Amino acid sequence: MANSGHDLLKGKKGVIFGALNESSIAWSIAEAIHREGGRFVLSNAPVAQRLGGLDKLAEKTDSEIIWADATDDDALKELFGSVKSSLGGVDFIVHSIGMGLNVRKNRGYQELNYDWYHKTLDISAISLHRIVRQALETGALNDGASVVALTYIGAQRIFSKYSEMGDAKALLESIARSFGSRLGKQGIRINTISQSPTRTTAGSGIAGFDSMFDFADHLSPLGNADAESCADYTVSLLSDLTRMVTMQNLYHDGGFSSMGFTDDLVDALKNAFGA
Ligand SMILES: NC(=O)c1ccc[n+]([C@@H]2O[C@H](COP(=O)([O-])OP(=O)(O)OC[C@H]3O[C@@H](n4cnc5c(N)ncnc54)[C@H](O)[C@@H]3O)[C@@H](O)[C@H]2O)c1
Repeated sequence: MANSGHDLLKGKKGVIFGALNESSIAWSIAEAIHREGGRFVLSNAPVAQRLGGLDKLAEKTDSEIIWADATDDDALKELFGSVKSSLGGVDFIVHSIGMGLNVRKNRGYQELNYDWYHKTLDISAISLHRIVRQALETGALNDGASVVALTYIGAQRIFSKYSEMGDAKALLESIARSFGSRLGKQGIRINTISQSPTRTTAGSGIAGFDSMFDFADHLSPLGNADAESCADYTVSLLSDLTRMVTMQNLYHDGGFSSMGFTDDLVDALKNAFGA
């Protein structure tokens, strides 16, 4: 973890969606952006207000909080209108929002409740479209801005317990590419970071999370990437150093996505099955 900043984001202003508590990936991202000289508004759903915690981050990073449900266009419009007056436009947006209603309520993939499924897709994926659209329509998104959204390899490969969230992440990554192709002329870029399993409130809401975490940790040559290293990687994507990178799904996973199997896992399976 970088201890002192390098002013990589000096002069840049943005909005960070999805910091809930100290274990949130967005919490670490906010701390890293602050360390690198960036300024920002923090946002989360109004229901998160009563869970407390965000005030502490706002104080620490000298930032304002604007509560907005990311599925509510009017609330997002108001948010970006206000950000435009206070910060004068944004150079970056971090989307770190996710919620799987069927997953949370233990409803299996073949028995999905479609109202919950719609809500899952809206919160976890379509919200990226809503956010970018409102940022554009209010004139708050500066040319040359960088947008980053957090995703998981469950979009490409099946992890049974990830269920509907795999669909949501596939849609999220597609929205990043579709918008990225349209905003290139303004120098605006959009990428997704595909992060290792990370112990957070959203992560631990998935049944079998500990097994997914341990499996990935064993298989990844570098082990699982934690929230702090994800925050450092996010900083690089928000900085001008990556100005020609757009429409990419970038794995930040200790090498997991390139692995198949290891001798250690073969041995562990042999032992488990008594072969
Ligand atoms: N934890 C993991 O293992 C992991 C791995 C890969 C990707 N991710 C992704 O990282 C992102 C951040 O998740 P996290 O693990 O830090 O968990 P988290 O629970 O700390 O963050 C999820 C956030 O989404 C917010 N949110 C939910 N509904 C919302 C709404 N309607 N409007 C606005 N905000 C809303 C929550 O309040 C919370 O702050 C998510 O997109 C998640 O899918 C997590």
